[in-house]
Amino acid sequence: MFAIKLENISKDFDDPNGKRVLALKDVSMEISPGEFFVIAGPSGSGKSTLLRIMSGLEKKYTGEVMVHQDHSRISFVFQQFALLPWLTVFKNVELGLVAQGIPKAKRKEKVMKELSEFGLADFADSYPRELSGGMRQRVGVARALVNDPKIVFMDEPFSELDSFTAQGLRKDLLELWRARHPTIVMVTHVVEDAVELADRIAVFTPQPGTIKKIVQNNLPRPRDTRSSDFYRLEDELYELIKP
Ligand SMILES: Nc1ncnc2c1ncn2[C@@H]1O[C@H](COP(=O)(O)OP(=O)(O)O)[C@@H](O)[C@H]1O
Ligand SMILES: [Mg+2]
Repeated sequence: MFAIKLENISKDFDDPNGKRVLALKDVSMEISPGEFFVIAGPSGSGKSTLLRIMSGLEKKYTGEVMVHQDHSRISFVFQQFALLPWLTVFKNVELGLVAQGIPKAKRKEKVMKELSEFGLADFADSYPRELSGGMRQRVGVARALVNDPKIVFMDEPFSELDSFTAQGLRKDLLELWRARHPTIVMVTHVVEDAVELADRIAVFTPQPGTIKKIVQNNLPRPRDTRSSDFYRLEDELYELIKP
């Protein structure tokens, strides 16, 4: 059974000079339920475009996207946090629940539980501008998870963070994935992230983006980021990604 299945996805854009840019070419793959799936590749290889297609944000493409009906509750974590600056942390996280018609008391309970899990309970009434980048991205992740999505799409969620903050968030994300087991589809250009987090890694070629190889990551969890096996897999991925 699959959570997401892609068949021959291609996508082109008209660039500002009126030229056609082929962003993705014939991408086919299957992502399993509960899998931590990483899409890695150089800048411009169509990773963000593919994530937008999979999640339904981008509707113009050729080929077929199938999302299993049991997995239709999805959410998205963006690189640029994408919080609403005029709303408090609480209200930002609550947004996803308002649209679902969940009663106020229940919303409060769910939001506060999510904020606690990400160490944000004391910041419920703060505004995004009062938080560090790391805290803001925690809010972004909490907002994505508050409605218990079956699939979480993440586009370079750590790339705006310093390495220390990113490390903390990766750890929290892994704990959460272990506890609730959503399917996670994460885009990154950071090889170390892929090796630490992924069950499988689809390595993309430069433009037009195609799958160069899907690499199985069998390193036992919790992963020792300083083991020789870890470095070996990092090397393998660097070799695949480098031009
Ligand atoms: N809205 C757009 N209009 C025109 N070209 C685009 C647009 N979005 C992406 N592209 C082009 O498609 C290619 C892939 O982009 P993107 O998916 O952002 O790659 P990645 O996320 O791997 O860096 C790039 O050449 C980019 O310039
Ligand atoms: Mg991108």
